[in-house]
Amino acid sequence: MDSFLIEGGVPLKGEVLISGSKNAVLPIMAATLLTAETCVIRKVPDLSDVGFMAKILRSLGAEVSLEGGTLTVKAEKLSGFGDYELIRKMRGSICILGPLLARLKEARVSLPGGCVIGTRPIDLHLKGLQALGAAVEVDSGYVRVHAPKLDGQMVFLGGRVGPTVLGTANILMAATLAEGVTVIESAACEPEIIDLADFLNAMGAKIHGAGSPTITVTGVKELHGAEHEVIPDRIEAGTFAAAAVATGGEVILRGARPDHLGAVLDKLREVGGVVTRNAGSLTVRGGGVLRPVDITTMPYSGFPTDMQAQLMAVACLAPGTSIITERIFESRFMHASELMRLGAEIAIEGPSAIVKGGRPLSGAPVMASDLRASAALVIAGLAAGGKTQVNRVYHLDRGYERMELKLQALGARISRVPGE
Ligand code: UD1
Repeated sequence: MDSFLIEGGVPLKGEVLISGSKNAVLPIMAATLLTAETCVIRKVPDLSDVGFMAKILRSLGAEVSLEGGTLTVKAEKLSGFGDYELIRKMRGSICILGPLLARLKEARVSLPGGCVIGTRPIDLHLKGLQALGAAVEVDSGYVRVHAPKLDGQMVFLGGRVGPTVLGTANILMAATLAEGVTVIESAACEPEIIDLADFLNAMGAKIHGAGSPTITVTGVKELHGAEHEVIPDRIEAGTFAAAAVATGGEVILRGARPDHLGAVLDKLREVGGVVTRNAGSLTVRGGGVLRPVDITTMPYSGFPTDMQAQLMAVACLAPGTSIITERIFESRFMHASELMRLGAEIAIEGPSAIVKGGRPLSGAPVMASDLRASAALVIAGLAAGGKTQVNRVYHLDRGYERMELKLQALGARISRVPGE
């Protein structure tokens, strides 16, 4: 397993090009299964999760090519029975369920895995598909959904902690080919849902209200091939912004969408960063005095859970007490103990992490536990004195395109050490 070796203490300086969004492209790839015609997706990031999803589409019978950030999919022949091991490995793969059900009236997939952050159930996905008329069976690690036909309905998708992103994606995709009108209430409002709806509408779907809690889908008989460009990754942009503040550097985020980053930029300013908007980019500068912050993760447009770990790394450097409360996923604090190896002082009290920041961090070997936790360890390593080895960076390769090369271009002393 590869690791990163970081020699910290260098302020990041320069420009980084933000890649296409991982969380947007995965459901969009699933959506290509809704038609037998060719779909072309551009600005596709080179990530292991994307490679996995391509394998899943192929295992279902689709022809898939991925070259230079352009993905072409033709799902003329399609089977509703996904490869058990492939699907189990990646949480994002659950969003093939909606399109397979819509197109084939039947699908069977293994219950998904993915990042080890809480239990991550799929009850809301299944409740939504049932509302459209599907029968659901869960047996021996598989979930099977089938329906002679899908009917438009009112579907309420609010869960214990709010809406579900991939659940909304699944119901949205299933509803495009249902008979009649589906109204999704308490839908996720994330920009990735808008991007998916834009792609589906380009395929001939009739979707209104994506980006709001109420989405209306008027079913159509069939969808056709379409072309689409994926939105920039707001979490990648936020991660580089946090790294700029943590190292006291200045980074231009080329292509970042400030309108997708409201809560993150707000907190980065609060902690002491300076953010300026320019045409087509954002500049984030650190270097001033850092201040403690209070952060609570929430569904969009609140502070994203996918940026919680990275901001915790920044909070470790800010003198004073920061309180970081995780409301979306239980047990998403695995980075805390690793940050403590670098000298951070963090106490976990229920859903909150209390960070007593300002002590200098010093390099140490640490273990990446999930995608965003790994990003937090990289940020802390870049800010710490001495050498940090971040082990198991395959987690990072799932969601960050060539992270170490992008960081090197900003002046960071970081290298990949190949493992066996
Ligand atoms: C997506 C993102 C992930 C992000 C998360 C929250 C992708 C590929 N992944 O994951 O990066 O961290 O949104 O912004 O887009 N829940 C239920 N029942 C369900 C589904 C979810 O109770 O059927 C709960 C979850 O346990 C969690 C909350 O709802 O507490 C939100 O999860 P959800 O929005 O579904 O996350 P994902 O879509 O899996």
